Amino acid sequence: MVYSQAKVIAGGLAHIPIVIGFFYLIMTFFNKRAIKYAEDNKSKKVDTATRRNVVSEDTDKKVVTPTNQVDKTVGGQPLTTKKKHADVPVNIYRPKTPYEGTVIENYSLLKEGAIGRVNHITFDLSTSDPFLNYIEGQSIGIMPAGEDSNGKPHKLRLYSIASTRHGDNFEGKTVSLCVRQLQYEKDGETINGVCSTYLCDIKPGDKVKITGPVGKEMLLPDEEDANIVMLATGTGIAPMRAYLRRMFEDSERAKNNWQFKGKAWLFMGAPKSANLLYEEDLQRYLEQYPENFKYTKAISREQQNEKGGRMYIQDRVLESANELFNMIEDEKTHIYLCGLKGMEPGIDEAMTKAAEAKGLNWAELRPQLKKAGRWHVETY
Ligand code: FAD
Ligand code: A2P
Repeated sequence: MVYSQAKVIAGGLAHIPIVIGFFYLIMTFFNKRAIKYAEDNKSKKVDTATRRNVVSEDTDKKVVTPTNQVDKTVGGQPLTTKKKHADVPVNIYRPKTPYEGTVIENYSLLKEGAIGRVNHITFDLSTSDPFLNYIEGQSIGIMPAGEDSNGKPHKLRLYSIASTRHGDNFEGKTVSLCVRQLQYEKDGETINGVCSTYLCDIKPGDKVKITGPVGKEMLLPDEEDANIVMLATGTGIAPMRAYLRRMFEDSERAKNNWQFKGKAWLFMGAPKSANLLYEEDLQRYLEQYPENFKYTKAISREQQNEKGGRMYIQDRVLESANELFNMIEDEKTHIYLCGLKGMEPGIDEAMTKAAEAKGLNWAELRPQLKKAGRWHVETY
């Protein structure tokens, strides 16, 4: 009896390593599955976050860069597929930890007799660490000083960057904006926009809270022989000014690997001639690059459209429908739209009519261009 009890106990003890080994195997199996699940989930989250990151969640406008690879054709031409611009800088500075840039200059862009107030403002970025770098077509956020009616700090406003990555002085340490002061009448009182007034009033030496950069919607294509059609109203010229400097300023070309060889066509809408922005530079580009640059103005309060109404850029688009659509049928052509949100329906209508004249359907064509990364819109 004593002998058999000892035998049973010994036999039982002998099974312990087997049982432990069995549990160890089960745990290893489930651990591996748990790690794999977590990794799969993490990569899905990163992917979603990257797409969302195109414009910060702190901003008031989301710009989505579709990643679909498309393989459609326009006018028999294959459309190029969209790139992801993974290396473009975004959100180096966020609202909780903005960069304090110093104002270098702030001057009016308008001539005598112009309507309103539009300023060119440049900030020094040299002390930013990490460095606040950006590329043409992006925006930055500005956090105006002071508090709102609830005693909370003002929220940031976005502004399209009007300088190239090299800055106006080509040293790569500044960023410039083109800002119109928002003013409107309400109950017989003139209301001034908070941030645009703050920006138009700041002086050299003042410190300004800057966030960003953000945006991948308005980037230039990599191809040097691309054609760039630009439709701008008012301060919508800001990103176009950066593109045109990149294309046609001697010092920019000397610094760039990118040597523009295509055709750039700017449609510019302004209320009066005195409101035309960066006009001297544009005239200089026309003289220096007559084969590469075309400039069409719609001066709404000095010119009339066919119907006797104010001349808008969509009227100019219609006048040039044939030439414009010949360009659009070329897969190397990109179209950029920036400025007043209100112009979008008018542009759509004009493009519909212009397309019809070529036997094309704009309602079908526009989404194709968008998917191919050739239709770029930033309106506000
Ligand atoms: P706020 O004090 O914020 O007032 C704006 C508010 O006033 C509106 O929301 C509306 O409620 C009200 N309002 C406006 N007009 C009227 C009216 N007529 N009647 C009654 N109420 C009215 N602006 C530029 O000047 N240059 C740029 O390059 C530029 N780029 C931009 C890029 C992007 C991507 C976006 C989204 C916007 C851009 N803006 C640009 C617009 C800019 O962000 C601000 O919206 C603009 O400067 C007004 O801000 P604010 O603080 O002065 O006005
Ligand atoms: P207008 O104000 O004469 O009606 P700015 O920002 O300097 O005011 O310039 C904006 C330009 O865009 C002006 O010439 C303005 O004309 C014009 N504009 C206004 N509404 C539209 C619209 N719906 N479509 C196209 N252009 C417009």
